[in-house]
Amino acid sequence: MAGKKVIITGVPGVGKTTVINEALNKLKSEGVEYQPINFGSFMFEVAKSEGLVENRDQMRTLDRADQKRLQQRAAQAIAKIDGNVMIDTHASVKTPTGYLAGLPEWVLREIMPDVIILVETDNDQILMRRLNDETRSRDKEGARAIAEHQQFNRSIAAAYAMVTGCTIRIITNADHLLDLAAVEMADVLR
Ligand code: AP5
Repeated sequence: MAGKKVIITGVPGVGKTTVINEALNKLKSEGVEYQPINFGSFMFEVAKSEGLVENRDQMRTLDRADQKRLQQRAAQAIAKIDGNVMIDTHASVKTPTGYLAGLPEWVLREIMPDVIILVETDNDQILMRRLNDETRSRDKEGARAIAEHQQFNRSIAAAYAMVTGCTIRIITNADHLLDLAAVEMADVLR
């Protein structure tokens, strides 16, 4: 299928969605179009229709078989989309029984991304962003746990590159430097 497939990942609250929106605004004025897809939203619509969850933050607590089935349904739907696609998702998801791969083999083989971007920043900045965001039910964890999650995401991204041959790009979204992150992301997408 024609078009570029770019996957954007990062721990909750790192600002993935914010950077994506800024980058897409920049590209629009140049005539470069991407369809933004939120993987969690695809999963949530199916989970809600089956009565499994009431809000998106509850999906992390579903059992592994349900999460796997929801991932597969989302990946199959996304794979059918033509043109440039940008997928906002997670390299790994923190569940009560440990890290769940966000892009396991059955998801990667459907989507076959060209690039996976890891959005990162300092652990204490992520902690503050989560504490200030009252619209979501964020997991309560400290800067050390956030550091472990960011490190785990780098490790698992290397495995994703091995399966697909895609490149891995790390972009820092630091406080007050959103524009810098958006410029870097737009460069990758052009
Ligand atoms: P998802 O919808 O991705 O939710 P999330 O993980 O909570 O991520 P957010 O989108 O809320 O955070 P963000 O990093 O985009 O930050 P934001 O831009 O809002 O996923 C929901 C659920 O779906 C997951 O928990 C999981 O269960 C499931 N899921 C998804 N993909 C999956 C997969 N592949 N496999 C299995 N399950 C999956 O910004 C946060 C705050 O920071 C905002 O207040 C913003 O204003 C602020 N901010 C951003 N940038 C800056 C900056 N530079 N300076 C200062 N403040 C900033």
